[in-house]
Amino acid sequence: MVAHVEEVCVAASHQGKGLGLIIIQALNATAKDLGVGKLILNCSDKNVKFYEKCGYSTAGQQMELKYNSS
Ligand SMILES: CC(C)(COP(=O)(O)OP(=O)(O)OC[C@H]1O[C@@H](n2cnc3c(N)ncnc32)[C@H](O)[C@@H]1OP(=O)(O)O)[C@@H](O)C(=O)NCCC(=O)NCCS
Repeated sequence: MVAHVEEVCVAASHQGKGLGLIIIQALNATAKDLGVGKLILNCSDKNVKFYEKCGYSTAGQQMELKYNSS
């Protein structure tokens, strides 16, 4: 089972206070409890260091094909 982490966001006024780390740690622990074998996510280059501090590592590249619904 694989879990996909999406749209993690901390209000700008509260960033840098450790809240993002707490959110990801809670997600990681919940996924582990549910028997998830791997968590994956997409992020911009500027957030790589943050996710590394949350225990994630870079793995391959992402590709997508988008259809705009509008
Ligand atoms: C990315 C985001 C969720 C991080 O949440 P946060 O609450 O600000 O991060 P934390 O305070 O928990 O940071 C945890 C650690 O990561 C580091 N860190 C956080 N963002 C970082 C960044 N962009 N680059 C490098 N290090 C970063 C912190 O310095 C801290 O390190 P420390 O424990 O050594 O002090 C938050 O900045 C955010 O919501 N950004 C806008 C939305 C966004 O880009 N979401 C990601 C979508 S993939």
